Amino acid sequence: MNKVRAIALCVSFLMPILATASEGEAPQYVIENGKVDKGTYNGYRRFHGTCHACHGQDAAGSSFAPSLTESLKTMDYATFKKTVMEGREVKDASGAVNAMPPFANDKNVTKHLDDIYRYLTARANGGLGAGRPERIPK
Ligand code: HEC
Repeated sequence: MNKVRAIALCVSFLMPILATASEGEAPQYVIENGKVDKGTYNGYRRFHGTCHACHGQDAAGSSFAPSLTESLKTMDYATFKKTVMEGREVKDASGAVNAMPPFANDKNVTKHLDDIYRYLTARANGGLGAGRPERIPK
């Protein structure tokens, strides 16, 4: 077997393993009868501690920043994490900067990123409504 084929074989063998490793880690929310698990509830609280100022009450968006209930319909966990940790700067046509700040140094965010993701995906895909959710009773 030549070198190129050996490498190609190696890559095709490893790709599915790498793909499952990164996709498998996406945190999951639980909704039962309109009530949510502890993590999703914590995500609601953390989101409204830090992110709502720009992304709006219930993640519905504002004139500053997009609705995350829309973004999280399609955004995967890795992209979400990278965007929140590193932030993002975009210049519009007039040259004004529209910025998503980086949160890598904010423990109120980094420690709860999985739960914020749970809350946002529950809003985007799980049919979770606006307002403070109720918790699933123990
Ligand atoms: C100071 C205002 C501000 C705060 C606070 C803020 N964001 Fe953002 N965020 C933005 C702006 C503005 C954008 C859009 C940047 C662009 O145009 O790409 C954005 C974009 C994003 C995106 C990408 C959306 C997309 O569709 O591509 C995600 C995800 C996100 N923010 C998550 C968060 C989370 C989670 C928090 C709280 C930890 C947060 N943001 C706090 C301003 C903010």
